[in-house]
Amino acid sequence: MDVVITPDPASAAVAAADIVEEYVRPGPMTLGLATGSTPVATYRELIRRHREAALSFARVRAFLLDEYLGLTPDDEESYHRTIRREFTESIDIPDDEVFGPDGTSSDPDRAARLYDEAIRSAGGVDLQLLGIGSNGHIGFNEPGTPLDGRTHSATLHRQTVSDNARFFGGSTSAVPVHVLTQGLGTIRDARALLLIATGEAKAEAVAAMIEGPADPSCPASVLQLHAHATVILDEAAASRLGPH
Ligand code: PGA
Repeated sequence: MDVVITPDPASAAVAAADIVEEYVRPGPMTLGLATGSTPVATYRELIRRHREAALSFARVRAFLLDEYLGLTPDDEESYHRTIRREFTESIDIPDDEVFGPDGTSSDPDRAARLYDEAIRSAGGVDLQLLGIGSNGHIGFNEPGTPLDGRTHSATLHRQTVSDNARFFGGSTSAVPVHVLTQGLGTIRDARALLLIATGEAKAEAVAAMIEGPADPSCPASVLQLHAHATVILDEAAASRLGPH
């Protein structure tokens, strides 16, 4: 695992955008997208490069990591809508090349299987962006999730519900607790992983991911098992790492 420590969140976003650009420039490619607050600064930097430096996403296909169950794609807080608002509507990726798990399906197991098939038939993900939850989750793979699972439905842990309440007017009872998420095995199939973590609230999870055992107690530790994983941190997120 390559670990890059940058001074602050803005520098972390530039470092992450540099890696995304390396993959996108030559195109065509398949990009795995993450929602949450952390990647927003990276998306803004990529939008800037699209506008000012002719970085085109016209030959990119994108797959989202996860989705809430029970929200329609037009619901403002669905991840489908969130990624459009925060990134894809401001670049030139074709709208019908942005895919996510079907959170409206009445048969989530089938929706999960179909999503894995869609990723496979697209030839797999070349570069997967990731955030990390304060409890070490990636996607919505909460602690205890097997390291080799495929896309599946899951129930959020209380910590994640409380972390995400800020997107739902601060109300934990408004956060959907059932989700569809790529499994850790699905995520591991991507040819390269790029995880971004900023802020002190992530420091403990980051230390477990990098220095702890690779096991389900910290789902992000699965990056230790990947041949091409890069972790970009700011100093606050790196603050609990031991000396090297
Ligand atoms: P955050 O979420 O970027 O909003 O902190 C990260 C995650 O839960 O994966």
